[in-house]
Amino acid sequence: MNLLENSFSILVNNNLRISWISEDLANFLGYSKDSVIGKEIDFISEDIRQKLSNSKFFGTLKDSSSGITTGIFDVTKIVDNHGNTQGFLIQFYFYDKTTESEDFLVFNTQNIKMKKLLEKASLVAQSDVSVLISGETGTGKSRLAKWIHINSPRVAFPFVKVNCSAIPDTLFESEFFGYEKGAFTGANKDKPGKVEIADKGTLFLDEVGDLSPTSQAKLLVFVDTKEFERLGGNRPKRANVRIISATNKELLQEVRKGKFRKDLYYRIAVVRIKIPPLRERKEDIPLIVNSFLHTKNKRITKRAMEFLVEREWYGNIRELRAVLESACILAYDRDIIDIEHLIDEISPFEEISTEDRIEDVLPEKIIFDEKERIISALEKTGGNRKKAAELLGISIATLWRKMKKYQINY
Ligand SMILES: Nc1ncnc2c1ncn2[C@@H]1O[C@H](COP(=O)(O)OP(=O)(O)OP(=O)(O)O)[C@@H](O)[C@H]1O
Ligand SMILES: [Mg+2]
Repeated sequence: MNLLENSFSILVNNNLRISWISEDLANFLGYSKDSVIGKEIDFISEDIRQKLSNSKFFGTLKDSSSGITTGIFDVTKIVDNHGNTQGFLIQFYFYDKTTESEDFLVFNTQNIKMKKLLEKASLVAQSDVSVLISGETGTGKSRLAKWIHINSPRVAFPFVKVNCSAIPDTLFESEFFGYEKGAFTGANKDKPGKVEIADKGTLFLDEVGDLSPTSQAKLLVFVDTKEFERLGGNRPKRANVRIISATNKELLQEVRKGKFRKDLYYRIAVVRIKIPPLRERKEDIPLIVNSFLHTKNKRITKRAMEFLVEREWYGNIRELRAVLESACILAYDRDIIDIEHLIDEISPFEEISTEDRIEDVLPEKIIFDEKERIISALEKTGGNRKKAAELLGISIATLWRKMKKYQINY
């Protein structure tokens, strides 16, 4: 067990009694090794027995002063010569909580395309091939990238995201490859780049389609050789990274237009996964809504759910979550979300200028009174709420809420 002494590991028997614990984990939890041996494990605050059937699971560690740490548990079943389970070796890895933690493990879907896509992703996760994830904004590209990492053997190592659209050419090398002290004015100490930090883990190139031709050329060399040099350094280094990229562009078209290097494309897009927009998998909306509201201890009315399912969601799941988030704030004093809470005034994804719209429609007279404006729009559209809302430049939910407020029955 010497090798494991400096890790966060525990051995338990079939009854979940601890037969061994690493020095580091015991110290971290604030127990002495001897005091826990033989006791039933109670500091993994999940339904541990059930979870042990998975080879990996998200969970929390509770220390002796009830401090909680989130992380990933890796489970190895210990069997005897006859194949009977004797116990489990459980290893804990810290997980960066600033991301979305547990949420990442779940990809709720009932959509057949999405299910196939996830099957493909879980197969891909086991290997080291490069993956390109494409899809509209907010469809879950970043989430899928992380999901692949979490489901890959690299889970215990870093997942490092680089936002390619935010890196100017002049900073590419220092960002990606790092620099050594004195490499340039202001380089007061050595700094590793993203590829070095991601060693043994996953390098996630977000918005890869936004890289300039110069940066693409530099990236190509690294992708090809997995070798790089820090700025000001004189030794090539190697980084063992799996590359996952994401883009909301049609990257192949960019290749055809000569904007993205073909050779780089084929290296980063060995496997291609395209996430369909939410409006093409509306059956997922109730699932996503319910799982989100569940975390907030809220429910939703049937008509509010119907309203959400009907929408086109050009901002996809991100937009849906934003609307739900604000609904939960508006409905802070209730358990149930209704249409009136689903205000999204004017969604940033379907920007309509309210003033323009109202002037377009109601040129005869500028009406300042909101109630009158609503009545006038309803009159003009013969009571069609959808059209009236469009004319007013507000969502149906907002119109509905305002009609209720002003007691307009149309
Ligand atoms: N299947 C899902 N269930 C629940 N939440 C999801 C799901 N897919 C994505 N999300 C959530 O939706 C939001 C947007 O997802 P994400 O950031 O991964 O999208 P993206 O495609 O990377 O967007 P962008 O192109 O803007 O970078 C996140 O909060 C993410 O956790
Ligand atoms: Mg993203």
